[in-house]
Amino acid sequence: MKHLLTMQDLSKDEIMEILDLADQLKYERKHGISHRYLEGKSVGLIFQKSSTRTRVSFETGVYQLGGQALFLSSRDLQIGRGEPIQDTARVLSRYLDLLMIRTFDQKEVEDLARYGSVPVINGLTDYSHPCQVLADLMTIRERYATLEGVKMCYIGDGDNMANSLIVGGLLTGMDVSVATPKGYEPHVKVLEFAKAYPSFSLTTDPAKAIQDADVVITDTWASMGMEEEKEIRQKAFQGYTVDDALMSLAKPGAMVQHCLPAYRGQEITEKVFEDHADEIFEEAENRLHVQKAVMVLLMKEE
Ligand code: CP
Ligand code: NVA
Repeated sequence: MKHLLTMQDLSKDEIMEILDLADQLKYERKHGISHRYLEGKSVGLIFQKSSTRTRVSFETGVYQLGGQALFLSSRDLQIGRGEPIQDTARVLSRYLDLLMIRTFDQKEVEDLARYGSVPVINGLTDYSHPCQVLADLMTIRERYATLEGVKMCYIGDGDNMANSLIVGGLLTGMDVSVATPKGYEPHVKVLEFAKAYPSFSLTTDPAKAIQDADVVITDTWASMGMEEEKEIRQKAFQGYTVDDALMSLAKPGAMVQHCLPAYRGQEITEKVFEDHADEIFEEAENRLHVQKAVMVLLMKEE
């Protein structure tokens, strides 16, 4: 593993290695055992979109690993004034040991990795959100002790979360069922990948997808950058709210995951959200542990 650009970059073994190390780092953190694997290392965090969790979990994660994190907003970088990503990559690689980037176009992340000479982590693009999905898998495994045969159901927009969940779920042996409205399906590349798995299904019917699910996942109907489509999307996604009626079709005791931020009354009801708040905030916490594991493993490869 040289970079983490999409979930497709990972094998099942690599995912398990990340999750095992994340579990260990979580344990160590909770027991005051220091793990300064990034001593003397500097990590650049480039943000072209807003963030609460990704920014704070990466900054504190790097600190806990003994390294230095630099928050680099595109508003302040020369990227914001048109300096190409290719040049930014070549310059930053000479100062820094590791880069994380949150941006719109997946190609920018790929270019950063291609033109730079340090490991690159995707902190969210329009196409994928691998760090979040690794945290989700970690949280699901904490509950069920395995991912093999656990049924994941995703209801909502076929967005970056859906794309990465499908790949991550299938690679780790989960059953994955997805319900999106027509026209809002996951990316064609992901559907192509999923074709090889009989354990994958895609429907427009949330009630069908959620049958017997062990874990139910949803996300905002209008991702960052889609603000203008918000109203159209509100209409298109009617019937896709994760509510008690839908949850009653999942397995009793099924867990709920949401990458956050959550829009109550839209993709999820206040009631379902609060009933599952512990699981959802554990998921948010696990971003910290899993990203630390990814950074440690990427630096080990160096
Ligand atoms: N889930 C997630 O990536 O949150 P932020 O947008 O706050 O980073
Ligand atoms: N799909 C959402 C995820 C936010 C963490 C977005 O891209 O805005």
